[in-house]
Amino acid sequence: MKTSDAQRRRWIAQAIGLGASGAIAGCAPGRPAGDAAISAGPGRPARPGALPWRGATDPFSLGVASGWPRPDGATLWTRLAPQPLQPGGGVDPVPIAVQWEVFEEGRAAAVQSGRIDALPEWAHSVRVEVRGLQPHRRYRYRFMSGDAVSAQGAFMTAPAPGRTERLRLVFASCQQYEQGFYGAWRHAVADTPDLVVFLGDYIYESSWGRNHVRKHDPGVPHTLADYRRRHALYRSDADLQAAHAACAWLPTWDDHEVDNDYASNLSQRGDPPEQFLARRAAAYQAYFEHMPLPWSMAPQGHSMRIYGAFDWGALARLYVVDNRQYRTPQACSLPGHAGSRVVGPECLDRLDPTRTLLGHEQEAWLSQSMRDSRSRWNLLAQQTLMSRADSKSGPGEAWWTDGWDGYPQARRRLLESVRQAKVANPLALGGDVHAFYAGELHEDFDRPAQKPAMIEFVGGAITSQSWPQPRIDALVAENPHLKYGEGRFRGYGLMEIEPGRVQVSMRGIDDARVAATGVRTLRRFEVREGVGRLEG
Ligand SMILES: [Fe+2]
Repeated sequence: MKTSDAQRRRWIAQAIGLGASGAIAGCAPGRPAGDAAISAGPGRPARPGALPWRGATDPFSLGVASGWPRPDGATLWTRLAPQPLQPGGGVDPVPIAVQWEVFEEGRAAAVQSGRIDALPEWAHSVRVEVRGLQPHRRYRYRFMSGDAVSAQGAFMTAPAPGRTERLRLVFASCQQYEQGFYGAWRHAVADTPDLVVFLGDYIYESSWGRNHVRKHDPGVPHTLADYRRRHALYRSDADLQAAHAACAWLPTWDDHEVDNDYASNLSQRGDPPEQFLARRAAAYQAYFEHMPLPWSMAPQGHSMRIYGAFDWGALARLYVVDNRQYRTPQACSLPGHAGSRVVGPECLDRLDPTRTLLGHEQEAWLSQSMRDSRSRWNLLAQQTLMSRADSKSGPGEAWWTDGWDGYPQARRRLLESVRQAKVANPLALGGDVHAFYAGELHEDFDRPAQKPAMIEFVGGAITSQSWPQPRIDALVAENPHLKYGEGRFRGYGLMEIEPGRVQVSMRGIDDARVAATGVRTLRRFEVREGVGRLEG
């Protein structure tokens, strides 16, 4: 059955924020594109043969997203999947013609529009790199195919180079689907960020934890079809869709997008590397197909470069890094395996200076990018707790080999290059450990009286379960450079950056297992420009 005209009008009205009876003539699809150069990616403009969507079911069931905004545009994303958990998302394996439109906030006429093909080899995902927009302006966008119209998304373009407009960002990580609902995302949207920085564990390959509120498929994904299905499941959540629609994202990954604790070409179990790389290629492709990443980050076989620098005018530069793809395998693990352990001083391999978490090429890129920065604030968007974290109270030491403590010389190199680059007001954002932390990072953690090399904030987890609080309290007590640790709440970090100061609110939800959960600010910190100490 075809969609009725009334239904279509309702979709369009919703999409552009008009009432159901609102006039739609001003935003009919197919308006010619503006003067701007529009890159749709290699070989992806509409083909003459591609037909629009003709099915009865809404193909835009996974919502819309935008990412990597620039002063003149952003990357827009959707995926046609009327039945997201079915093979191919319920779409026949043929190209589907999709139209897209971009509106200035509050205006009905599109400022940009075009056509593009959704191709089966990319799971009918659509990615449009819009250019020619104005800096620091809010835009809305939507997609259409046949009678179907997507939800409407919004994004803010970055300020022009040299400008210092404020930036309000949410940083978040770790959203195990079974362990909770995404109430944290609903509250994050209500906090009206300009940007979401997602630091990894967007999906989980495995089912774990206690007190599940909903279920994955049993088993872990290995094939492209498996990973597509897992992404589609997560993305079917309305609160997560709303967070993608609300503003642009800068996404990076950690391990669970592929396999727990994987390191470069080694799986946790120690599968033959060529076999694991085939799995990694499938996971990376599915990730790309579901994230608003530019075509420049597209996977090439089992490789996918997703790290990069992002400028918010001259106020802030963010370094979005990848700590999985290029790392040295974890120290002192069983031969041929990746996977983490907690080790003591007997693990000398941990101290080997050739070990790297980011890979030597990314390390070199990062220090050059920091040297080039003229920004007043510099934010390292990385995956996990950076601070040294000895988990053995009193004499002796215990190090978790998957985090930076497994790569102490790489951490020291990074902090040294921050100092050598004279990078202004360096801060680190992290996730992964499923708790909130704030602390000061030192090139030499045994000399905590020194001015810190960086200030660090770890923003909890959207749903994933944490250590019990007494264990976190003991960790903070044992490591004096850690000033705060809170694991009783799920949530996210809200960072407000302006010239002069940065404020960070640790936003904790009451209970991830309750869909209508409330939120509170657990703690607020401040870093003043030029002071370089954690305050508050
Ligand atoms: Fe996690």
